[in-house]
Amino acid sequence: MGWMHWQRYRCVIDCDLYPDDCINEKLFKRTADLMVSDGYLEAGYEYVMIDDCWMSLKRDPKTERLQPNATRFPSGIKALSDYIHQKGLKFGIYGDFGTKTCGGYPGSLYYLDVDAQTFADWGVDYLKFDGCYAPTSIMEEGYGVMSKHLNRTGRPIVFSCSWPAYMEPSGIKPNYTALTKYCNLWRNWDDIDDSWESVTGIMKWFSQNQDRIAPFAGPGHWNDPDMLLIGNFGLSYEQSKAQLTVWSILAAPLIMSVDLKNIQPAFRKLLQNRDVIEINQDEMGKQGILALEVNNISIWTRPIKPVIDNSSSYAIGFVSHRTDGYPFRIAVQPYLLGLDNEDGYIIDDIFDRTDRPITKPFDEIVVRVKPSGAVLLKATPIKDGKI
Ligand code: DGJ
Repeated sequence: MGWMHWQRYRCVIDCDLYPDDCINEKLFKRTADLMVSDGYLEAGYEYVMIDDCWMSLKRDPKTERLQPNATRFPSGIKALSDYIHQKGLKFGIYGDFGTKTCGGYPGSLYYLDVDAQTFADWGVDYLKFDGCYAPTSIMEEGYGVMSKHLNRTGRPIVFSCSWPAYMEPSGIKPNYTALTKYCNLWRNWDDIDDSWESVTGIMKWFSQNQDRIAPFAGPGHWNDPDMLLIGNFGLSYEQSKAQLTVWSILAAPLIMSVDLKNIQPAFRKLLQNRDVIEINQDEMGKQGILALEVNNISIWTRPIKPVIDNSSSYAIGFVSHRTDGYPFRIAVQPYLLGLDNEDGYIIDDIFDRTDRPITKPFDEIVVRVKPSGAVLLKATPIKDGKI
């Protein structure tokens, strides 16, 4: 869980024109301050991560090391990393496996060992390693080499890989076994943009490919559907609930990308909702699936703790793709979603704390889902009348 600049701030480098929105050390310091003062760290968001466009266009001519843009990062990356660490946070940075980053800055191909060592020396805790300007044919091997260089530094660095995001859209199937071996998380699909259309496109791809990709998720190695849009311009409050619901069921990394200084309180509360975070971070680490689609409502499920006498609890997310503009009533029998505990389940409504009756597999769960919104439930099994 953390914060990364790309989705909200992209490659804005003109700090005269956009002093509050450009990629410079002030942005990351300000964000680190707010992560702590406004409760995000306490809620579990720990990593502050720089994406593309932080570098100078040239490597250091003597050492061949990457270096930051000197005007925007005058104190250097180590000082920024120290600042972030002093706040009790962790520090992430971005590189690219190819000859250039997507933004045109120096890439790591031919410099994998130097760059791994530079990142470790700077106190990097997380590396997002993009895949622009590289042939897909050498990615599996090349990312494997980078993972070895990172390990050799002796510093624990979360390794976020991008190679599936360069293969899947062109119909090439990456080797997910290799991904779980080399990477801690990996971007599977296209970049997220600040719109409901983009979010639903990603949900659709994850559901269509769930049988193939979900089994590879687990503690230490996760599928990554990309950053949270919550608090920006493109999603309504209901749509934001829907993104958080599905991302939690997918066991996705929760990476915010939002202006923490100007975020509306309702969105801040949503991002910090402890019950959703608990579902997302469930320690069994199983990735959920799209279990059923009825009347244009998607029903997503994920087995979570507690497990009582071999019966899992479940997170159940209902997401409406309807366009008829009113809260749509839907009734579903738990057994249709694979919930078969005979004594039934206690049902908690995560966003809307209403009392719900104990529900047996052939009873009905009834919810009303707002247009392009979501309802998230937690079902905990009962055994002999007890939980
Ligand atoms: C492509 C990645 O998928 C994005 O998340 C972002 O890192 C950009 N590249 C940066 O250029």
